Amino acid sequence: MKVTFSVIKADVGSLAGHHRVHPKQIEVAQRELQAAKDSGLIVDYFVTNAGDDLQLIMTHRRGVNNSEIHTLAWNTFKRVTEEVSKPLKLYAAGQDLLSEAFSGNVRGLGPGVAEAEFEERPSEPIVVFMADKTEPGAWNLPLYRIFADPFNTAGLVIDPKIKEGFIFRVLDMVEDRFVDLKTPEESYDVLALLGTTSRYAVHSVWRRHDGEIAAVASTTRLNLIAGRYVGKDDPVMFVRAQAGFPAVGEILEPFSFPHLVAGWMRGSHVGPLTPVPLRQSQCTRFDGPPRVIGLGFQLANGALVGPSDLFDDVAFEYARAKAMEVADYMRRHGPFMPARLDPGEMEYTTLPEVLKALEGRFRPGSEIGEAPRRR
Ligand code: 13P
Ligand code: 13P
Ligand code: MG
Ligand code: MG
Repeated sequence: MKVTFSVIKADVGSLAGHHRVHPKQIEVAQRELQAAKDSGLIVDYFVTNAGDDLQLIMTHRRGVNNSEIHTLAWNTFKRVTEEVSKPLKLYAAGQDLLSEAFSGNVRGLGPGVAEAEFEERPSEPIVVFMADKTEPGAWNLPLYRIFADPFNTAGLVIDPKIKEGFIFRVLDMVEDRFVDLKTPEESYDVLALLGTTSRYAVHSVWRRHDGEIAAVASTTRLNLIAGRYVGKDDPVMFVRAQAGFPAVGEILEPFSFPHLVAGWMRGSHVGPLTPVPLRQSQCTRFDGPPRVIGLGFQLANGALVGPSDLFDDVAFEYARAKAMEVADYMRRHGPFMPARLDPGEMEYTTLPEVLKALEGRFRPGSEIGEAPRRR
């Protein structure tokens, strides 16, 4: 029987700045999703937070882009905003809900979505990753490693079902178009795109052997939608594991390297993506550093068994220590590039306002020999 796995998230206001979701926000979201479960709209749910982003993990039978499921998510975010964020005056209440008008699909309205419909296998392990203070391109490096790098994923060498490789569906977030590329033979082309993390992001990955969906990521770019700075597009993704897909350990392996991602402090800085357990899913230093949580589930006839808090382990302590060292190093750059993002990326921040005020004071280069005006 087919199941749809939907992860829909939004930042609808946060406790103490952009630091973390308030427990009452989680309670209200749980109440809404429990009612939807009782009514049969969804099979199961799990509510959690990645820093200041409220995460709705749902299973149901209605397929992707279903208007009832998207309405449920939208209404849940609205209720949390009205019942908790606004009365408690949480910071940036309703931040990611960019529109008052809702048309039955949250895509393009602010929330991030990763969804897939598939036949539940006899055993269906799934890993959900949720990050704060970064953007969809943050998944490019780990997804490449998981599905295309045999030095990461032993299965690419030794498992006949995986050996045929994968199809990467890569989205151009600026032009809103996508391309399907096959690994291993087009892996250099995949990298040619994925290296530009601000523009290209992996939308999904498919197994070539039988066309099964293997991974899906959210690819919302809030600032491109809104045309102004509204916070970062803190992304989610999920990956199916084992028995013809990468093993859970292969899926987690790339996160042992805290790679640099964009989105730290005011969405304007670069920092290490730090793998953390749920209890550390809160952004503190310089509003970060960017963080990722990883939750492991099993599906049992659509029900969510788990989760296991996958980064809550000694195996990721070295990555965390390395990330703190890198965070220190990056912060020593202060407002300088490349610790601060390039001007193209800064277009959607408040920097252009500051630069505009200086505009009238620029003089032609031909006058550079003149002494400065002292008053
Ligand atoms: P088990 O033998 O524990 O099932 O592990 C198989 C595997 O592929 C682990 O990566
Ligand atoms: P969020 O996108 O997580 O709301 O963070 C915004 C920000 O500017 C933090 O410094
Ligand atoms: Mg926020
Ligand atoms: Mg956030």
